[in-house]
Amino acid sequence: MHLVDLHGRVATDLRVSLTDRCNLRCQYCMPAEGLDWMPTEETLTDDELNRLIAIAVERLGVTDVRFTGGEPLLRRSLPSIIAATAALPSRPRTAITSNGLGLKHTARALADAGLNRVNISLDTIDAAIFEQITRRNRLHDVMAGLEAAREAGLSPVKVNAVLLRDVNDHGAADLLRWCMENDYALRFIEQMPLDAQHGWSRAAMVTADETLAMLSKEFDLQPLDGRGSAPAELFSVDGGPHSVGIIGSVTRPFCGDCNRVRLTADGQVRNCLFARDESDLRAAMRGGADDEQLAQAWITAMAGKLPGHGIDDPSFLQPTRPMSAIGG
Ligand code: GTP
Ligand code: 5AD
Ligand code: SF4
Repeated sequence: MHLVDLHGRVATDLRVSLTDRCNLRCQYCMPAEGLDWMPTEETLTDDELNRLIAIAVERLGVTDVRFTGGEPLLRRSLPSIIAATAALPSRPRTAITSNGLGLKHTARALADAGLNRVNISLDTIDAAIFEQITRRNRLHDVMAGLEAAREAGLSPVKVNAVLLRDVNDHGAADLLRWCMENDYALRFIEQMPLDAQHGWSRAAMVTADETLAMLSKEFDLQPLDGRGSAPAELFSVDGGPHSVGIIGSVTRPFCGDCNRVRLTADGQVRNCLFARDESDLRAAMRGGADDEQLAQAWITAMAGKLPGHGIDDPSFLQPTRPMSAIGG
């Protein structure tokens, strides 16, 4: 059995949000005061999570599991959840998307638990601008986390950067140089309308074209092949071994090749980042559904996946669940 939608796409890449909480307050994500966090009783227990992940991997053809948040490192049981996933008979690949805080202390344990890769959010290497964006003075912690990930062999270590106009966009080239020096694979992401404050505007968004034009003033960028279902278009830099990625979710959508499915920390299947509807596997599970019934519910949830995010449609509505509770 596979997670196939009516447009023929097959979801093999599961993104599991482990918590909606975060220890940063990125201005493009959430307000300074944070959000009303998910109550504990609504959050899946480790056993519930492990059961759903096992169903996805062993019955539904999922080959890759990425743990996200909010901030996944805030879930204390992360190493044991990773270990349970990595030990499944089908041996899925495992990854996390993290802000890197505290990774300095946990990277080795996570690698030992079976974690394969990390993607770390870092929008600037300027400490003052980092604090302006994240509202926390923690740049050095993130840098230490990145280094620890590389030392622990969690490679390739990828860096995600969202560019904000007149905030960090002028530092894009510096960030790329620093990532190349440190052997991190940098990707620039177009800002998407998923912030809790609903403050996104298309005019303010730094587009993929703008980012490429800016970088091309300082580097020779040549497109690389072999993207597959990955969100990032890759470019070689100055003919060398390093590349830079552009994730143009808004202006260069990759929805037609999407292979993703999401599970939220409260047990809802989202068949798209921008889905308006969710399917409640937690209620089914707590109501006594067996594994086969849960697998069938999951298959049904995928069928109605929309062909694209529809951001350009006049009728577009931002999902009510914010990015921090979806996991990106
Ligand atoms: P790998 O390529 O496997 O390393 O992971 P990834 O780039 O898909 O994951 P990551 O969590 O680092 O996400 C990077 C950016 O891509 C984030 O801004 C995500 O929100 C965005 N992204 C990931 N999956 C999707 C998707 O299905 N649709 C859209 N529009 N954006 C996505
Ligand atoms: N648009 C695009 N990317 C975002 N991220 C967080 N909010 C947004 C947004 N509105 C990024 C984070 C992280 C990844 C999961 O998504 O920086 O790297
Ligand atoms: Fe936290 Fe990620 Fe949101 Fe920043 S973008 S506040 S790191 S969840």
